[in-house]
Order: sequence, then C-alpha cells, then structure tokens
Amino acid sequence: MPHLPRLFSSLLLFLLLSLTSFAQPAPTADSDMPTDYLPKEFHAGRREALRNLMPENSVVVIFAYPTRTYSNDVEYIYHANPDMYYFSGYKEPHSVLLIFKENQTDSLGSSYNELLFVQKRDPRAEQWTGKRLGTEGARTKLGFSTVYTSAEFKNFPISFNRFTKIIFDKLPDDIGNQANDADLFDLVKQFRQKAGVPEAGTFHARYDNRSFTKLTAQLREIKTPEELDLIRKAVEISCQGQNEVMKAVRPDMSELEIQGLHEYVHKKYGAESVGYGSIIGAGENGCILHYMENSKTKVGTSLLLMDVGAEYHGYTADVTRTVPVDGKFSEEERAIYQLVYDAQEAAFKTLHDGSSWADASKAAQHVIAEGLMKLGIIKNEYEVGRYFPHGLGHHIGLDVHDRGNYGKLKKDMVITIEPGIYIPEGSDCDKKWWSIAVRIEDDLLITQDGYELLSHFAPRKIEDIEKLMKEKSVINDFKLPPLESGKKKGF
Ligand code: GLY
Ligand code: MN
Ligand code: MN
Repeated sequence: MPHLPRLFSSLLLFLLLSLTSFAQPAPTADSDMPTDYLPKEFHAGRREALRNLMPENSVVVIFAYPTRTYSNDVEYIYHANPDMYYFSGYKEPHSVLLIFKENQTDSLGSSYNELLFVQKRDPRAEQWTGKRLGTEGARTKLGFSTVYTSAEFKNFPISFNRFTKIIFDKLPDDIGNQANDADLFDLVKQFRQKAGVPEAGTFHARYDNRSFTKLTAQLREIKTPEELDLIRKAVEISCQGQNEVMKAVRPDMSELEIQGLHEYVHKKYGAESVGYGSIIGAGENGCILHYMENSKTKVGTSLLLMDVGAEYHGYTADVTRTVPVDGKFSEEERAIYQLVYDAQEAAFKTLHDGSSWADASKAAQHVIAEGLMKLGIIKNEYEVGRYFPHGLGHHIGLDVHDRGNYGKLKKDMVITIEPGIYIPEGSDCDKKWWSIAVRIEDDLLITQDGYELLSHFAPRKIEDIEKLMKEKSVINDFKLPPLESGKKKGF
C-alpha cells in the first residue's frame, strides 16, 4: 500500500474510533439495570382500560401498601401493592393514586383525569433506604403529568361529594402514624375526612369498596402480552430451580438448604423475590399445605414436596414438584403420585376458552376419588376431601392467588392446576400410606382451543423425574467447610 492512502486510512480509522467513543452514552447508574420492566405505556393503558369500565361520575382511589416492622428499627423488604403497581408502575410506599372516569378541571382551568401523590425526594432518607422517584421521576419515568408529593394531598382541592361513586379497596386500619404528615397513615386519614367515608359497617351507596375487586379482577385476570413475557420468565426460572434441585438433592440435605438452592437459582436468573414463602416439606411435612418452617435438618429418603415460585418484576410463578429423595419412587409413593398425575391430566383436558373451573375440579376429583377407593384408602367418593382438601387451582399474576373470576376460564388467563393427595400419620387407612404427600402444580395459559403448559420445563412424569434425578448437579461440587461453632457440644 502506498504511503498516503495508508496515512489517510489510519486517520479515517482514528476519526471513526473517536466518533464511536463520543457516540457512546456516558455510563449512568441505570445502565446495568434490567431492561425488561413493564413500560410506562403499559400502566397508562391499564388506567385507560379501568376508566372504560368505571361507572359514570366515579373515582377510583388506590393506596400504597403499608411498610411493616421486621425487628426494632428494621422493616420488612417493601412489597408494592399489586394494584398500585399495575395501574401506575410506582413501587414505593406512602402514596395514593386517584383515577377519574371523566376529566376534572383545576382552579386554573387545566384538566386532568388522574392524580398521583408520591414520596418526596429526601437525600438523607435516600442515603439509608435507597433512591426515590419523587415527582420528577414519576413524571419522566412513569409518564404522569399530574403528580404531587404526598404532603400536598392534604390541601389538594378535591370535592369528593361530587362523585356518584368513590371506589376503593379495604382501607388499611392497622397502621401507625410515623410522625410525618405525608405518610400512609395521614393519607388514609385525610381521605376519610375529605371524602367523609362512613364508619366501617355502615352502608352508603357512594362509598363502594365492593366493586373495586370486581372491576380490577376483570382487567387483571386477562394477561396482556407484556405481562405474559414476565410470567413466562418467572415460570421458567422456577422450573430451572426445580430441575437443579432434582439433580442435587441428597438425603442429608436440610429443608432450608433445599429452599436456598431454589432461591439461589431464582436469583441467578434475576428474579428479585419469591411470590410466597417457599414450601419445602419432606415426608410428613408435605402434608402441611402451606408449610414454610422448612426446619427439618435431614430430608431423608422420603418424598419431598417443593412448592416454590420465583417472582420476576412483580409477577409470580407457582410450581410444585414432588420427588423421591433417593431418586426412585417406592411402590406406594408411585401409586399415589400416578393418581395425582392422572387427576391433573384429566383437569388439563377440560381446559379451553369458555370452559369452567367447576368442570376441571370435577374431573380431577373424580380421578382421585376413584383411585383412592381402588387402593382401599377411602370407602366412598364423599371421603375424597379428607385427602384432597384444597381447591384445584387459582389465577396467578401479580399475586400468587391472583384476582380473577372462578366461573368461566377465558383466553389469556394464567392459572395453576394443582391436585394433591396428603395422607398424614394416623390416617384411617393402612399404615403403609402414612406420610405420603404429593402435589403436582403447573402453570397454564388458557388458549382458544386448550392451554399452553408454561411450566413444561420441569418434568412431571415418574420416569422423567427419576431420569433427571440421576444427573449430577453443579451444586454437588459446592462444598463449604464445617462451622467451628458447630463443633461445640449442644449444636
Ligand atoms: N403456593 C401456594 C399455592 O399453591 O397456592
Ligand atoms: Mn398454587
Ligand atoms: Mn403452590
């Protein structure tokens, strides 16, 4: 290559490199944050959908959930009120959202149809408990144009007696005043005063906390594509937790350790939390439906029931797998497991847009009743509730037991189907069945003609579980030294 063009090409390269480095955005604190949060347009769309359902001349009022003490001056990790999050995207406490059916006009003649009152920025508080959005953040990040600080709610001119309906959920009556005139306690108190909310137990047509659940259920029970993306992720993460534990589990592990393994996998994949306390019940403990102590120090060789749901950006999965810790179902365990599996399959077959919860429940109950009678565990079908004592399933979403109707199923609902058989020690049947507890819980999307099994990532069939349990887990190479303090007598 001759000289000049080479010089020219190096110059060009230098220029290009400089340009690209100038073009790089300066790193911001947000650049290493997840990029798949629900967009502000989603929340705005949900408010608009709510407005369409609201009765004429009404307002919906939604308060943040309270903060709660964990210990002395330490609070529980804050969990946003799912309704507040759904309709606004705001995840902080001490806030209130008002959604009006019709446009309202303020004293200067500007119109608005929603108001959001949020915590004010406070550098000192933020140094201790983390960044706040403040009014500016709520404007730019959540897209609200009418946003104020919670302290401004007190004197904000809203004449509630103009409305035919003031719609709100049950007000939190068990919260303390944090000696700050903009906390949730004050917001609720001011709302009661401004709106003249009558004492609990007194009925007045204007104050309507019955239709709140109905209205919001109509929206929240049908999942939008954005919500489905997050639910799919939460479900897949939960299944990966189940799979890793199926490979890793050993009889000398503790229930707590197994809980930790699930939750480690969740966090590895970016799930912030669990949608409910993880249930890890070995043997007899599996018979406690919502067992959360997880205190057995060795799970032994019995069945292990694991009901664990990752929560990803607010949306939770709810997946249960029951496995034999020694990798092989015994004859009795196999018989009960297969029955629960068949009941689940029977329920699956009924599902489609327009099918009913009742038909799915009947199908599952029938299989379990017939099976238990054949095994001699019950004498007639009316006894089935003794060993299958809970409902067949529920909606999932922002709540693990999500809002929704329990009549007809509709396309884009996401539900669990979770039959179970629990035979506690001392039950009125042959001892060989005692302490067997099986629940199989899957998450499904209802489609036009049937369903999609979202939790297909974790095996359900006996042979598939036994096969996976033979595999080695990366977790088995993870060894920690014994604790010094553990050597002391009494530990
Ligand atoms: N994990 C709670 C339930 O299955 O409903
Ligand atoms: Mn469930
Ligand atoms: Mn569950």
